[in-house]
Amino acid sequence: MKIKTIKTKPFDDQNPGTSGLRKKVKVFQHKNYLENFVQSIFDSLENIAGETLVLGGDGRYFNREAIQIIIKMAVANGFARLIIGQGGLLSTPAASHIIRKYQAFGGLVLSASHNPGGPDEDFGIKYNVGNGGPAPEKYTQAFYQHSLALKSYKIAELDDIDLDTIGSQQLDAIAIDIIDPVADYAELMQSIFDFDLLRESIGSGYITLRFDAMHAITGPYAKKILEDILGAEAGSVINAIPLEDFGGGHPDPNLAHAKELAEEMFSASAPTFGAASDGDGDRNMIMGSQIFVTPSDSLAVMAANARLIPGYARGLCGVARSMPTSQAVDRVAAHYHLPCYETPTGWKFFGNLLDAGKITLCGEESFGTGSDHVREKDGLWAVLFWLNLIARKRQPVAAIIQDHWRQFGRDFYARHDYEAVDGDIANGIVEHLQALLPTLPGQAFGEFVVSYADEFSYTDPVDGSLSQNQGIRIGFDNGSRIIFRLSGTGTVGATLRIYLERHEANSNLHELDAQVALADLIELAEQFCEIKQRTGRTEPTVIT
Ligand code: G1P
Ligand code: ZN
Repeated sequence: MKIKTIKTKPFDDQNPGTSGLRKKVKVFQHKNYLENFVQSIFDSLENIAGETLVLGGDGRYFNREAIQIIIKMAVANGFARLIIGQGGLLSTPAASHIIRKYQAFGGLVLSASHNPGGPDEDFGIKYNVGNGGPAPEKYTQAFYQHSLALKSYKIAELDDIDLDTIGSQQLDAIAIDIIDPVADYAELMQSIFDFDLLRESIGSGYITLRFDAMHAITGPYAKKILEDILGAEAGSVINAIPLEDFGGGHPDPNLAHAKELAEEMFSASAPTFGAASDGDGDRNMIMGSQIFVTPSDSLAVMAANARLIPGYARGLCGVARSMPTSQAVDRVAAHYHLPCYETPTGWKFFGNLLDAGKITLCGEESFGTGSDHVREKDGLWAVLFWLNLIARKRQPVAAIIQDHWRQFGRDFYARHDYEAVDGDIANGIVEHLQALLPTLPGQAFGEFVVSYADEFSYTDPVDGSLSQNQGIRIGFDNGSRIIFRLSGTGTVGATLRIYLERHEANSNLHELDAQVALADLIELAEQFCEIKQRTGRTEPTVIT
């Protein structure tokens, strides 16, 4: 087989963000754009010759073309084996599991997660290391550095590979395995959760469920696990067929984007349990009849009840949450004397803690929860966790949540996103906040007295690496917080995220609407950051 070395010129914008490199499809279609980034990754990695690479994506537009290019480049760069999901599909958590299970060197996951797909929408690529987790910052920085100096890439002259037929083939020095994308993952789930109990609870009608796959990758996974294996009624999984443009939708599981599910769960004929997952299957939204569970609460409830799940019956070694995630899980950790870590936003920061056995569960406010079973957040795993809890406790979702709030208090929580803000205005806001920070401690704003105001930085307790400028936080002496961050995953302008949080111990007030309970903080946030004033906008683009 002939290996070609193609001359190229560097692009200056291949700097991975919170989760890989994300750009418009049109950008990835520029001549050599994808090739350059893939070669930069391969050049940064040492000793890939003879190794195994896992490859798959969320099925969005450009997935198949990109996979064919990457196969040819992986061959040319000396990998000995490629493990590829049938149809070029692998959910992010399944890719993580497969890397671990087959002891691959790493994996390339093609996804822009919850961002829309299609010719005019987003595409993305991320590299996961041998532990199955997202490449830590020292890798992503090296990818970027290599991309800035890249002069050529290597590609094999090869016919396109048939991605649709399961099986193995040897092409010169490389073995190419097309695998069932679901089988290994389904087996892993059965090793963690009580599938007999779940089958019984679903079979008897105690649990009725609706899962919205949002025309994204979890369709085939959810059909197989929830309907075929656990016996949920046919049609329990909706929008189950992955589409290149996600049916024109925004595959982000929240009340705004999973509208169909949300409407059903608040209707008179709601099933007992509802859930949704995102483009690449790592996010989850949990709902019960007439209730939405915030991701921060979901993490706290999981931590408090983990012993009821067979896979965690021995207890947890610790928990972690990203900095903007509410402190609900901290209360559980304190109660059970568990170590609790606060990391910057992005799953890559959990990897070291999981590998070192410092934590078992972790999560983010952005609809991500996971455990040490893989090194990514995992949407369907969270769904099965909740189903298993409902079955074991014999309680509906609303009762589980209310009991939890009665014991620990309720952490009212909301995130207000202002999307596609002009870059200069966004930077102006950040500079303005940075200047404000030193003046705030000690100041009182109504009942809120500022106890600290700073920019979050994190020293990894395992490898000592330092990550700075990870979000602006203003904390009050009653435990409330306002946090400001610019998104690292958007592809248009800047997205300002405002995270708001307030603890309420009084259970008579737990049924308040979160936006009402947070009204004072919402006003204060505007007073600090002036986003409405500076952009002329009257409300956030999305509230979650
Ligand atoms: C967002 C979320 C973050 C998550 C990431 C990938 O990143 O906020 O928690 O890890 O997507 O799913 P952001 O756009 O805020 O940088
Ligand atoms: Zn995702």
